[in-house]
Amino acid sequence: MNDFISLEHIVKVYPPSVLAVDNVSVEFRKGEIHSIVGENGAGKSTLMKLLYGLIPFDSGTVKMNDAPVRFHKPGDAIARGIGMVHQEIELIAQYTVWENVVLGAEPVRGLAGTLDTKRAIELVRRKIDEFQFNLDPLAQVDRISVAARQKVEILKLLYRNVSVLILDEPTAVLTPQEIPQLFTELKRLRDKGNTILFISHRLDEVLELSDRITVMRKGKKIATVAASETNKEALAQMMVGRQVIFTSKRTPHARGASVFEAKNLSVTRRDGLKKLDEVCFEVHAGEIVGIAGVEGNGQFELVNSIMGLAEPSAGTMMVGGKDIAKLSILERRTLISFVPQDRGKMGASLAASILDNAIMTHHRLEVRFSSWRGLVLNYKHAREFADSLAQRFSVQMASRQNPFRSLSGGNQQKVILGRELLLSTPFFLMDQPTRGLDVGSIEYVHGEILAMREADRAVLVISADLEELFLIADRILVMHRGQIVADLATEQTSIEEVGRYMLEGRVSA
Ligand SMILES: Nc1ncnc2c1ncn2[C@@H]1O[C@H](COP(=O)(O)OP(=O)(O)O)[C@@H](O)[C@H]1O
Ligand SMILES: [Mg+2]
Repeated sequence: MNDFISLEHIVKVYPPSVLAVDNVSVEFRKGEIHSIVGENGAGKSTLMKLLYGLIPFDSGTVKMNDAPVRFHKPGDAIARGIGMVHQEIELIAQYTVWENVVLGAEPVRGLAGTLDTKRAIELVRRKIDEFQFNLDPLAQVDRISVAARQKVEILKLLYRNVSVLILDEPTAVLTPQEIPQLFTELKRLRDKGNTILFISHRLDEVLELSDRITVMRKGKKIATVAASETNKEALAQMMVGRQVIFTSKRTPHARGASVFEAKNLSVTRRDGLKKLDEVCFEVHAGEIVGIAGVEGNGQFELVNSIMGLAEPSAGTMMVGGKDIAKLSILERRTLISFVPQDRGKMGASLAASILDNAIMTHHRLEVRFSSWRGLVLNYKHAREFADSLAQRFSVQMASRQNPFRSLSGGNQQKVILGRELLLSTPFFLMDQPTRGLDVGSIEYVHGEILAMREADRAVLVISADLEELFLIADRILVMHRGQIVADLATEQTSIEEVGRYMLEGRVSA
């Protein structure tokens, strides 16, 4: 039985000199949901990986019920009832749910030891029923949702009689609608006596889910607190090491003339389905308009239409009084700054240097960055530009020549945001501007977005995070099945009302 696990004075150094876990002592009790929170790089994953026997540590002791244990590989931890689900899901896509669950621990029959298919399916079905997981054991894994795949990973561990489950940022890959169900299931597992160790940096969900919370910062444990005795502000302060303000810093600001206007914008798929259906809205100078909606309700098509990556089947789009339909992508970039959802694919080149990413687009729009009639980049000016951008947006980097991928997510977003801010455009389009960032970086990005509004730029923000929209947007438009079904002044609506429009497309009386 794992009544409690204690980690005592654990130290882990990644060679040559990254002190990832710095003398951490913490105790996990049977039957609790214990969250580990901290900014990116705080050492959360490392701490859990060494408990799981995946990586060795340098000093300290792991004890189970006061007896020292040493796990050299995950198999050792699983044998003692401790299992871990990683950030990346590692199932075999072509296999069914039950095959993935029993893989490596198959029930066999007869002397030849052949797989007992019937019994395997039955055992998996029993586990699914026991935990009310709502999964079809016969479904093929690549046909089920990400949330369901996560359940398969958890089931794999339960099937091996694991009673301490480590989950590394499981909500990062889920949509907001899938999270409550995961939480219900985790609480049910806890109520049956299992222990859940839950890594996250999203404070709201941690407070909702956990019994106790351990905060890490820069490899150190800052504190372990009962969820009922703390709050978001206190946790954020421990996490970041300074005060973080969650209430909106948005002050009244008069909006100016219309800058962006979409009129009857439609995108029709080849099979006739309308992905964008007669969408009409305006964004004014000095205004932040937010677009809320469950993902897949036309946001993708809207962004692609504005940026010239998809051709609308009908309607018009104007920026600063100019019809942008016939403009090339580069021409659009003189009018529109753009922060895409997928930083690694569209916003940047991961393999190129930080410098090259900072200068991207600018080098084609501004003559000072080119020599020899635009054939060669003027490196002197480019370097100055990259350095001033890094300084103004406090980008933490070792060298501007390093590949972009060497930056943390928050710093990558600062480079993209800075580059786009420094384009002198009237209209700013941002798709999920803070997805995957930690609280300190989110606060920073929100501050910059609000500053754009003060500078009378027109800002359109698409976000799956409703709290974000309530913090920064003046108006919230809700998209549902390709239509804008609500246009609400932030001051006069609530998260509940917006949520209902998102799910139902209208608010029933
Ligand atoms: N395999 C590795 N090799 C070297 N350094 C690593 C490795 N994994 C993580 N780190 C470093 O260790 C620190 C803690 O990382 P990690 O445990 O992944 O943090 P978290 O999960 O809190 O984001 C970071 O500075 C990170 O860059
Ligand atoms: Mg991690």
